[in-house]
Amino acid sequence: MKKLYIKTHGCQMNFYDSDRMTDLLKPLGYELHDNGDEADLIVINTCHIREKAVEKTYSELGRIRDQALLRKENTGKKTIIVVAGCVAQAEGKEIMRRSPWVDIVVGPQSFQNLPELIAKVDPIEKNKLINIDFPIIPKFDDLKSDISERGPSSFLTIQEGCDKFCSFCVVPYTRGSEYSRPVKSIVDEAKKLIDAGAKEITLLGQNVNAWSASGSDHKVWGLGRLINELAKIKELKFIRYMTSHPLDMDTELIEAHRDIEKLMPFLHLPVQSGSDNILKLMNRKHKVKDYLKIIEKVRKYIPKIAISGDFIIGFPGETDKDHQETIELIKEIEFSQAYSFKYSIRPGTPAAVFLDQVDEKAKNIRLQEVQNILKEQQFEFNQKSINSNIKVLVLKNGKKDNQYLGRSPYNQSVFFNNDKENLIGSIVNIQVSEAYQNSISGHIA
Ligand code: 5AD
Ligand code: SF4
Repeated sequence: MKKLYIKTHGCQMNFYDSDRMTDLLKPLGYELHDNGDEADLIVINTCHIREKAVEKTYSELGRIRDQALLRKENTGKKTIIVVAGCVAQAEGKEIMRRSPWVDIVVGPQSFQNLPELIAKVDPIEKNKLINIDFPIIPKFDDLKSDISERGPSSFLTIQEGCDKFCSFCVVPYTRGSEYSRPVKSIVDEAKKLIDAGAKEITLLGQNVNAWSASGSDHKVWGLGRLINELAKIKELKFIRYMTSHPLDMDTELIEAHRDIEKLMPFLHLPVQSGSDNILKLMNRKHKVKDYLKIIEKVRKYIPKIAISGDFIIGFPGETDKDHQETIELIKEIEFSQAYSFKYSIRPGTPAAVFLDQVDEKAKNIRLQEVQNILKEQQFEFNQKSINSNIKVLVLKNGKKDNQYLGRSPYNQSVFFNNDKENLIGSIVNIQVSEAYQNSISGHIA
């Protein structure tokens, strides 16, 4: 067997793609390893969403070159180096210029071609290959390889790309326009994932709730209807989805939360800002009151649902007043958890050339304020779980002896101790006794 090392940056969709690359390379004799020192093939699956993520790619590539050189010196063997993902898509030629030791650059829509690309790499001729097409045949049709062992919780990409063009975001350029996978290919893959050990599936998409395709009744289905279909698979116990867009939050999906027990009471719904002025500049096409209305409706249907979100702090033109409006929105919603990021200029996006960029100091102060409130809200949410009895999917062993880590329906990390052999993959009832910032703990009830 040859050794494969994959380093994944960025979102869950990249983690899904990395798993599929692993499956795809297995028939070529590549077996996954947990470090690159002796790897025959190193893939770095990259993220382009913020500048920091891109810098990470280039510094990682420096480390990988040293690893490959050392291996060559010690064993005489060449390591093939592949850059995949969104940096590959956006900066293919730049990667080859800045890091000429890279052999293959492959975009997120064309990694199904990796086996052929690898076969073409000529270690002596130094044949460099860039494949960043958006092929007409979607990659999923070509990804027929078997799915190898997964943990109890798996990702399944059902939708890719974005047509929304928020003015700060690179996704429409790196992942292309919105594409929904057909129902049959999703259901087939869900069954394969279950055969490979999955009890929980998280449906993924840049705009997952924009998913839409023709169903078995020849009607157009939305995400709610698809979840209904997947819930019929007996061995599938928990269903989640992310990331959603407020404009695509339809009643059918909200009803699915109310009616389908397997659909977890957790909604990740980015709002980005609490100021209508900023939302307009962001080209979000919704207002603050639209977001509030959706959350109100969701909570009417599922009172205990956990709400999560994303915020961009210091978007060009953001004033103190806009920032205060974001704080007010956060206080009004009470998030169970949420992500907040400093605005990062992305070359090629409309906001990159907006003139009134916010200075770094103000961004830092505002980010700190937002994060402090979000942290408090998360801690309060976790504290409310104390004394409750919740169903938990056991994901893996914790760091301490006899400790297990699982996930609650509300997407909280749950720790508990048990000396029984291997509970991984089982569903246990946990009586919660302690709450922390990022997790809760208890014992099997
Ligand atoms: N700067 C900062 N954060 C960004 N995001 C997307 N683009 C940028 C950017 N240019 C954030 C958004 C999105 C999340 C995945 O990343 O909040 O929802
Ligand atoms: Fe980016 Fe906006 Fe599309 Fe989300 S909806 S992927 S933030 S452009």
